[in-house]
Amino acid sequence: MRIVVLVSGTGSNLQAVIDAVQSGELGVEVAAVGADRPGTFGVERSAAAGIETFVVDFKSFEHREDWNAELTSKTAAYAPDYVVSSGFMRIVDQTFLDRFPGRYLNTHPALLPSFPGAHGVRDALAYGVKVTGCTVMIADAGVDTGPILAQTAVPVLADDTEESLHERIKVQERKLLIDTLRSLDTPT
Ligand code: GRF
Repeated sequence: MRIVVLVSGTGSNLQAVIDAVQSGELGVEVAAVGADRPGTFGVERSAAAGIETFVVDFKSFEHREDWNAELTSKTAAYAPDYVVSSGFMRIVDQTFLDRFPGRYLNTHPALLPSFPGAHGVRDALAYGVKVTGCTVMIADAGVDTGPILAQTAVPVLADDTEESLHERIKVQERKLLIDTLRSLDTPT
């Protein structure tokens, strides 16, 4: 099974996937890692691991659909069975989704449908929930709205900050992503 992973940031979840592949714990090939902006640590660490990388810089496109088209073709060039958004902070359009139907996975640091969007950890903390967690889902055209594949609950501690809570969630998010990838069949 071949995957392409899309990142916008540090890619610590991606690193967990790379480590699981290298240790033989996860039988997938990370065909490439793509980013929506230059200079991400996610791309840097992938290149260091000998993985092909590409950047489709959102800010260098005047029209969003042109960025989407380029992201779609760059990703498709690696013929992935699944595409994984791992901290990829952009919504893709229908062109991209149609190219990888039911094969675009996303992770989110909250128990959807609660607290979708870019600040899932902050919003859960601000609301005062006592349990939050992480979700792996099949992404659709909405913001964190696709069918849920797996979830793990994480308790909120009395002295949690956004950072401390997010770090504990990410420990579970990494495991959940790896377990979910392991459970997927290669599409025919
Ligand atoms: C994850 O919690 C992801 O769900 C969220 O951002 C974090 C990505 O972190 N959108 P990293 O880039 O894998 O370190």
